[in-house]
Amino acid sequence: MKIFETENDIKNNCLHAQGLNLVPTMGNLHEGHLSLIEESKNYDGKTIVSIFINPLQFGPNEDFRNYPRTIISDIKKLEKIDCDYAFIPQDDFAKKLNLIKAPSISKKLCGKNRPGHFDGVLTIINKIFSVILPTHAFFGLKDYQQFILIREFTKNYFPGIKIIGLPIIREKDGLAMSSRNNLLTKDERKIAPNIYENLIWIKNNRKKFTISELVKISSEKLERHNIQIDYLGVFDKENLKKVKNFEEGALVAVAAKIGKVRLIDNIVLNNKN
Ligand code: PAF
Repeated sequence: MKIFETENDIKNNCLHAQGLNLVPTMGNLHEGHLSLIEESKNYDGKTIVSIFINPLQFGPNEDFRNYPRTIISDIKKLEKIDCDYAFIPQDDFAKKLNLIKAPSISKKLCGKNRPGHFDGVLTIINKIFSVILPTHAFFGLKDYQQFILIREFTKNYFPGIKIIGLPIIREKDGLAMSSRNNLLTKDERKIAPNIYENLIWIKNNRKKFTISELVKISSEKLERHNIQIDYLGVFDKENLKKVKNFEEGALVAVAAKIGKVRLIDNIVLNNKN
């Protein structure tokens, strides 16, 4: 696997001429990332993974400094699955960028308690896309709101790039894979699967209760486990507005803190599930 560290490295090698399938990451790679990379191999061209912990998307009280940094093992994992290229820029990559203002949908769900987060995400994605010029970019649907925002941003500013969203990969006990899971203590890790269990409980009980009853009951259940809810609800999967009735494609989404660690998860309902 060839590793590139600077913008010029990428440009001088004219990588994009081969057709690039990009998997943008902040490292600490887990099976969720690896599944995106495996999927990208089904597309023509080469796979390039970017690893950059983007300071612009962390708020002042968030975990930028504690965010797991595991670059050596990340590179080993990428080599093991025959990734073609990695782009691993230095910290100054995020300096002097024009801040992109994310549209109003960014103020909902995760944006409510993380002001500026999605501005930071779009700013770095804008930069990474303009350096790499991929044909496709792959994102996990765990970060559902991020996916919608990047997809819409790309339609407007990089119409040549196709955004592909792929299903959440879970641990055996249902916990959605996330780099943040590594920050949980043993005891916190034990209660974390309750988050997904509650989403499934809402899905399975959607004919028995109203949405507000479901949200109330499952919020209480989570709180009993000392899981602090940031939001939990049922939303339209395109505009992320709260819905009053379950409809085809409704998004059931949650963000919650266990100790200091903020986790998110979601399921999209359809007629079949
Ligand atoms: O999902 C992530 O890992 C990050 O938000 C992303 C898309 C790589 C931007 O920094």
